[in-house]
Amino acid sequence: MSEDSAGDGRTPAPGEATTDRVRGIFGRIAGSYDAFNLLSSMGLDRLWRRAAVRAAHLKPGARVLDLCAGTGDLAFALAATGVASAVVATDFAPEMLEVARRKAARFSGPTEVTFSVADAQSLPFDDESFDVVTVAFGVRNLPDRDANFAEVFRVLKPGGRYVVLEFSRPPFAPWRALYHVYLRSVIPILGSMLSGGDRASFQYLNDSIRRFPDQAKLAAELRAAGFTAIGWTNHTGGIVAIHTAVR
Ligand SMILES: C[S@@+](CC[C@H](N)C(=O)[O-])C[C@H]1O[C@@H](n2cnc3c(N)ncnc32)[C@H](O)[C@@H]1O
Repeated sequence: MSEDSAGDGRTPAPGEATTDRVRGIFGRIAGSYDAFNLLSSMGLDRLWRRAAVRAAHLKPGARVLDLCAGTGDLAFALAATGVASAVVATDFAPEMLEVARRKAARFSGPTEVTFSVADAQSLPFDDESFDVVTVAFGVRNLPDRDANFAEVFRVLKPGGRYVVLEFSRPPFAPWRALYHVYLRSVIPILGSMLSGGDRASFQYLNDSIRRFPDQAKLAAELRAAGFTAIGWTNHTGGIVAIHTAVR
């Protein structure tokens, strides 16, 4: 199937996540992903991931699964706390995980991070096998969020926690307008410069952020999937939100 097929004969809309399109994009940009993250967020991505680690409420010995782990930064931050007994980092793009594996060689945290290639919509793990599942900037890229929510519900132990860090909708309209100008103008240019001209991939990232549901809608989806105690916190004026949900 070509990257321009939505799987049903249609050409996917700008920002629409389809499996082939998303896997192709992250396969191509794996080498420039970390630099792009750092520059495009002006370093804020580290603070956001740290907030996600705090939201995970890790308990000693917790088994943690990080989905759409990419180049591994959230998995490493979770492991660096030394609280979890295991952190399993998964992603469906082997190129992204390869970057994470290379970084792991330099990471000597107290908790081991292991890697496996897996689609977040169909997880190769037993029922009730994790205390915490996390995902940073991944849910937006899933063609079928409901499938992901059902899978996370299945692999979490009762009382386990799902932490979703994702771009969201700034509630203050002038800040939102400014942010959208930044997304439209700076992101594709910066991405293109760092990736050697691959402007289209970064245009997708921009479009996918604008298509993604706002905080309340995402919370409603998690509730419909059976999660309880759903809440969210906005960061950087709602540019990102961290949702938490309990199985
Ligand atoms: C924007 S990156 C985020 C990486 C990392 N979590 C971070 O915070 O930097 C999104 C990642 O999600 C992965 N991804 C997208 N769709 C996926 C799927 N269906 N299953 C597993 N991984 C997926 C991509 O390969 C990519 O590595």
